[in-house]
Amino acid sequence: MEKKNIDWSNLGFGYVQTDKRYVSNYRNGAWDEGGLTEDANVVINECAGVLQYSQSCFEGLKAYTTQDGHIVTFRPDLNAARMEDSAKRLEMPVFPQDRFIEAVEQVVAANAAYVPPYGSGATMYLRPYMFGSNPVIGVKPADEYQFRIFATPVGPYFKGGVRPLTICVSDFDRAAPHGTGHLKAGLNYAMSLHAIMTAHANGFDENMYLDPATRTKVEETGGANFLFVTKDNKVVTPKSDSILPSITRRSLVYVAKEYLGLEVEEREVLFEEVKDFAECGLCGTAAVISPVGKIVDHGKEICMPSGMSEMGAVTKKLYETLTGIQMGRIEAPEGWIHVIE
Ligand code: PLP
Ligand code: COI
Repeated sequence: MEKKNIDWSNLGFGYVQTDKRYVSNYRNGAWDEGGLTEDANVVINECAGVLQYSQSCFEGLKAYTTQDGHIVTFRPDLNAARMEDSAKRLEMPVFPQDRFIEAVEQVVAANAAYVPPYGSGATMYLRPYMFGSNPVIGVKPADEYQFRIFATPVGPYFKGGVRPLTICVSDFDRAAPHGTGHLKAGLNYAMSLHAIMTAHANGFDENMYLDPATRTKVEETGGANFLFVTKDNKVVTPKSDSILPSITRRSLVYVAKEYLGLEVEEREVLFEEVKDFAECGLCGTAAVISPVGKIVDHGKEICMPSGMSEMGAVTKKLYETLTGIQMGRIEAPEGWIHVIE
């Protein structure tokens, strides 16, 4: 199969339309058979549930070309399970997990020419999503839904590639206690748009959100969980019911313990402790592990000892091990790599 003529190494994190996407519709209490389509447009009624009350959820995962030339995805079963959790809490029907994985396989295989080659620095991002599609005017869940997955080749999430970021402590809250912060609900991201634009306007790459109840604990950023490293090489990651259970973070915790022999603490992290850490990174499918060099709290700067020019040593080892597993250079734990072709 011939690859598309794309300048893979200069791709940013943007949308490039690919050939085929998967669509299935839910009507009269059941999902239809579903299948691939070339039509990238969605036509829905002006009163569709998603347009009025934002009834939508989504997922994000990647397909990689491995060193030996296979195309694989990373732990798609965990995305399927998380989408089930999101759907249930948003009163949407569950798209069956086995069908979710089959749909991922179909979309990747149909767009194989867009999966960036091994070593190009780019990957293929897959975006499964679901929304209420029939007219809803009283506040209630829709009766009809559409599930879709599209694929787009992407480069690094943050402009300028892998480089230490400068982030700020946000004055806005991302998610309420007992709210929807632990789900991949579109509404969480709508809520964060003003905060991210404010951060960018002030010269920052991202926001550090604190827990809204006490504003003393570190939660996450708009699109990634935090990982910290202590001066004695312990990995510390915030535990909270209102952050997204990142698949990357859960995988890195395993990698840290089982591959690198590091001690890991998953616990509440006080903002007060941040100044004492040696390294900080943002982890997620899009972010992979993006190092943080500086955290600014209303003018007060916390400069991570790892500095503004390189990733910290432990962050780098985590990054190299995780991406090594994803690209087939390092043997993966059982069930992590889903070979497509
Ligand atoms: N936190 C938020 C708010 C996110 O949007 C994401 C991205 O999916 C993550 C964390 C990282 O999660 P994952 O590693 O499953 O991509
Ligand atoms: C992902 O990492 O898959 C996300 O959905 C994060 C988003 C900010 C792009």
